[in-house]
Amino acid sequence: MKQLLTLRVNGITHELSIDPWRTLNEVLRDELNLTGTKLGCGSGDCGACTVLVDGRSVSSCLTLAASVDGKEIATVEGLAPSGEQLHPVQESFVENGAIQCGFCTAGMEMSAVYLLGRNNAPDEEQIRAGLSGNLCRCTGYNQIVEAVAAAAEKMKPS
Ligand code: FES
Ligand code: FES
Repeated sequence: MKQLLTLRVNGITHELSIDPWRTLNEVLRDELNLTGTKLGCGSGDCGACTVLVDGRSVSSCLTLAASVDGKEIATVEGLAPSGEQLHPVQESFVENGAIQCGFCTAGMEMSAVYLLGRNNAPDEEQIRAGLSGNLCRCTGYNQIVEAVAAAAEKMKPS
C-alpha cells in the first residue's frame, strides 16, 4: 500500500504517494528528477548519495523516504537554485580542479557544506575527517581538500 508523504526539498514542498520501502535516493532521483544526487554503492560506503536532512548529512541510499516525511531536505541542486550563481563550495571545486569524472562531486559538496556549517575555519585534518565518508576514484583527494579550504575562506564573514 502506498504512503502519502510531504517532503520539502530545497525549499519546495512535494506531496508524494510512494511505496514505503523506497529510499530517499530513489524518490529524489526517480520521482522528483533531482539526479544531481548520485547512487554509487547503495550500501552506505561511498558518500555519493549524501544529502542534508534537517541540516544533518545522511546517506540517501540508506534512508527510507518515509522516515523523512515532513523534513527539510537539501540536495546539490539547492546550492545553486538559479542555475547561474554557484555556491562558494561549488565555485571552489571548479577553481581548484576538484572535479574529474564528477560522480562523487555532489556528495562531496554536500559533506563540505555540512562541515562548513559547523566549523567555518577547518584545518586540513578536520576537512579530511569531514570528508572521510566520501570516496573519490579520480582526484587523489588533495584538490578536494584544497577546494574546501578555499570555500571556507570565501565564506568567512567579512
Ligand atoms: S550510494 Fe549511498 S553511500 Fe554509496
Ligand atoms: S571526481 Fe571522479 S570519483 Fe571523484
